[in-house]
Amino acid sequence: MAGAPPLDPDRMPAHVAIIMDGNGRWAQERGLDRTAGHREGVESVRAVVRKAHDLGIKTLTLYAFSLENWNRPKGEVRSLMGLLEEYLDKELPEIMEKNVRVRAIGRLDRLPRTARFVVNHALKKTANNTGMTLAFALSYGARQEIVDAAQKLMRDAEAGKIDPENLDEKTFAAYLYAPDLPDPDLLIRTGNESRVSNFLLWQIAYAEIFNTPVMWPEFREEQLVDAIVDYQSRERRFGLTGEQAKGDPNGADEQGES
Ligand code: IPE
Ligand code: IPE
Ligand code: MG
Repeated sequence: MAGAPPLDPDRMPAHVAIIMDGNGRWAQERGLDRTAGHREGVESVRAVVRKAHDLGIKTLTLYAFSLENWNRPKGEVRSLMGLLEEYLDKELPEIMEKNVRVRAIGRLDRLPRTARFVVNHALKKTANNTGMTLAFALSYGARQEIVDAAQKLMRDAEAGKIDPENLDEKTFAAYLYAPDLPDPDLLIRTGNESRVSNFLLWQIAYAEIFNTPVMWPEFREEQLVDAIVDYQSRERRFGLTGEQAKGDPNGADEQGES
């Protein structure tokens, strides 16, 4: 890749999350139907998963289907579910070979029976893999995730397992769908939109956001590297001053209350 600065292996994002958007527009621009865009989008999923694995990214979360997406035309939903099944079926051998652990977050009970079966099979089969975690947000909504967490929490409070007085962020986060995964460091959205669309609202509190006009079917290895190069140029401050964030002792000597 001509001219792209090399990646700093010490500053790789541990968790990259991607809102894969723009399949429909990519297809329409070419006079194809939306399904052709989703099909080409699956090729991007393959490419990005491979590249993320090769780069040593520990967790990759892909927003594949939102709860709101259930309201799309039936035919489109059906073809998306078919592509999901096909992808998992076809990729499972390579996923196993790469020691990738598949996870799924969302209201999976709403998936059609065959899709649920294929997803559960992938989850079970890869459960003991110790390499990259590949999480799919499927039938996922972040507000619903927070409501589901609150519901479980209230049940536990009722059962006396948790004292409301002691509720803190860490305890709350333990009730989310995949509490063992770290928060995303880098959130990528393709397809020329600058919105979050109900994705990981709790977890992206301090994520670095990268938007690109590239439509998902054209987002491949090179574009992933570009996003990470951009991420590595940022200074993450987490509310501190620039000096504090750099670990400059002169900047950190008058620390306020935590
Ligand atoms: C993303 O592409 C795929 C899903 C949301 C399932 P879209 O289908 O949203 O494509 P656009 O935004 O209409 O171009
Ligand atoms: C977000 O894309 C959901 C996924 C990528 C699965 P959408 O296309 O559904 O989002 P909006 O409608 O543009 O906000
Ligand atoms: Mg879209």
